[in-house]
Amino acid sequence: MTSSRFFRLPNLISSNSTNMFFQRLFAMANYSFSSSSSPKPPIQAVYDICKKKLTPSIEPTPQLIYELSSILDTIGPSDVGLKDEHQEDDRGHGFSSPNTLNRLDRWAQPITYIDLNESESFTMCMFCFPTSSVIPLHDHPEMTVLSKVLYGSLHVKAYDWVEPPNIKNSKENPRGPVRLAKLVVDKVMSAPCSTSILYPKTGGNLHCFTAVTSCAVLDILTPPYEEHSGRRCTYYRDYPYSSFGSGGELIDGKEDEYAWLEEIDTPEDLYMREGVYAGPPIRV
Ligand SMILES: [Fe+2]
Repeated sequence: MTSSRFFRLPNLISSNSTNMFFQRLFAMANYSFSSSSSPKPPIQAVYDICKKKLTPSIEPTPQLIYELSSILDTIGPSDVGLKDEHQEDDRGHGFSSPNTLNRLDRWAQPITYIDLNESESFTMCMFCFPTSSVIPLHDHPEMTVLSKVLYGSLHVKAYDWVEPPNIKNSKENPRGPVRLAKLVVDKVMSAPCSTSILYPKTGGNLHCFTAVTSCAVLDILTPPYEEHSGRRCTYYRDYPYSSFGSGGELIDGKEDEYAWLEEIDTPEDLYMREGVYAGPPIRV
């Protein structure tokens, strides 16, 4: 286990096999394998479908998305070795606090990243958020992502690119190129709730998460981040449409449904640590 508390999200997506070994060992110490007559744990059912049907190159069919989300909808924290910490963590300040965006208020507690399984075709992972913590605006290029809030409440703000691309270059924006995007999700998701899905070009492929309460999310990413294949996680800052727009670019909707996104370095205040999976062991 690395001792660093300061992870870049893309670095975390490629954890090492030694760490995976200890995660499995820990999980096996807490759970015995089910007998053949016992029902299959839902997380195992999700894994089995992913392994059998997901590929690195073919986007999942609507039927497959339905099959996976139907099981994910039933999964709660106890199915993946978590307890609902929603009632216990009151050290944050809540989403509505005027201090929500103050870096000092996100302080000590990092977001915990838990890797369940990785392959060429998909990543299964969880994020455990302390209250008020944020995963800044980032993208999932050419990827489909299923997300299930396991406990607590999470604010999701998500964009899709406007097509064809509308880009203001450095002459028009001294801070650097910006590209027009449309806001497609801006809501709080509270457990229990259904699985949300984003696609390569729709559903809010670029998103920002803010923990309204302490909360956890189970994610399936297909295919996984892979820099060599052009699937690199990029972070963005969003500017109101009025910052650079004149009204002529809008395809439909109002100005407040659009924003200009500027690519930025991985934010320095993205605090993450790696956690250990303690749910039912997953037979791979
Ligand atoms: Fe994401």
